[in-house]
Amino acid sequence: MKEFEVKIKVVEATDNELPEQLRKLVDTARQATERSYAPFSNFHVGAALLLSNGEIISGSNQENAAYPSGTCAERTCAFYAHSTYPQEKFVAIAVAARDTSGEFVDDPVAPCGACRQVLLEFEKTSGQPVRVILCGKDRVFMLDSVQDLLPLAFVDFD
Ligand code: THU
Repeated sequence: MKEFEVKIKVVEATDNELPEQLRKLVDTARQATERSYAPFSNFHVGAALLLSNGEIISGSNQENAAYPSGTCAERTCAFYAHSTYPQEKFVAIAVAARDTSGEFVDDPVAPCGACRQVLLEFEKTSGQPVRVILCGKDRVFMLDSVQDLLPLAFVDFD
């Protein structure tokens, strides 16, 4: 038997410690929460993706009375970005959320498992890491890649 650890690096920062481009990405994710359609959960999530052509694409969670038919902000954003610019790589993604009080959540919000899997596919097929910025009210967590969010993941695109 053998034991090993899988470690990830998380950098915590305040907004004003971020370089300008990432600060803009975080702001865009926060603004996207305003366009969320979340009448069932009242949890408003926004995501913003920086693409390799410099464009920023945003998306929000879009719920549905038939609950599983709704989508998370990250997948709305990723599928929109990739269907609009199929040739561009994802450089970084920021995620932000406001809870039922309407305030941004204190603790940085992290993507669900399904969104991690979807983002990982775009990361793997593009051949370059996608930085991940999880936004809280007064601080963010930064990870070097989507892979860090989903260790020991299923990948199968031979
Ligand atoms: N949600 C997201 O949009 N992204 C996440 O990472 C977690 C959850 C949405 C799904 C649903 O509309 C609401 O938040 C409550 O779960």
